[in-house]
Amino acid sequence: MERLQKFIALSGYCSRRKAEELIVQGKVMVDGKVVTVLGTKVDDSNKITIEGKTLSKENKEYILLYKPRGVVTTTSDEKDRKTVMDLIETDKRLYPIGRLDYDTTGLLLLTNDGELTNLLIHPKNEIDKVYIAKINGIMNASEIKKLEFGVLIDGHKTAKSKVKVKKIDKVNNCSIVQITIHEGKNHQVKKMFETIGYEVLKLKREKIAFLDLTGLKPGEYRKLNIKEVKKLYALK
Ligand code: URA
Repeated sequence: MERLQKFIALSGYCSRRKAEELIVQGKVMVDGKVVTVLGTKVDDSNKITIEGKTLSKENKEYILLYKPRGVVTTTSDEKDRKTVMDLIETDKRLYPIGRLDYDTTGLLLLTNDGELTNLLIHPKNEIDKVYIAKINGIMNASEIKKLEFGVLIDGHKTAKSKVKVKKIDKVNNCSIVQITIHEGKNHQVKKMFETIGYEVLKLKREKIAFLDLTGLKPGEYRKLNIKEVKKLYALK
């Protein structure tokens, strides 16, 4: 559940401050009743009407971005660096689902749909996130097992993952490894490799669930279609 003013802002209807004004002025109805209390909790099962207009799923937007290197995953950066929002044209108040590091490339979803965001980031839903990492060395079978079984990062054991070595470069002593996880802790993949003594030299997220980067170049994006959104909801 979300606070009413945040719920309205996330729908892209207006800013949170404007939503607060509308609520206090008695212009917002929840399930047919005027609500003037800020912070009233609502979710997608509630019918929200503002000045006679019903908030609908049509106000939701879903973007799949191929994040390039050198861009911050945030809506605004205090150091004034380029953000993922600078790559997207929208009139909605979108935000990224989860985070990719400044130097990580790959698939990033952006939306104003709080419910879908929660669904995709909650580990209990076990949504696969597939990464390709270039690491500085060549892993042995027991190290692969260790990663797959779970390692301790920041005092927490990671959930089970899948690890596949895709390429080994003995001359340059590095390898390309695919790792599939369903959590999203800060710098998780880099930290996981760190625990077994490897540095991640390059990192790309190739997939989230059934979504991949087909047809996109770094910096490009597309909207998800209704079928894809429904399929994501069905993963719950
Ligand atoms: N894990 C990381 O270490 N970095 C990312 O950007 C994503 C997952």
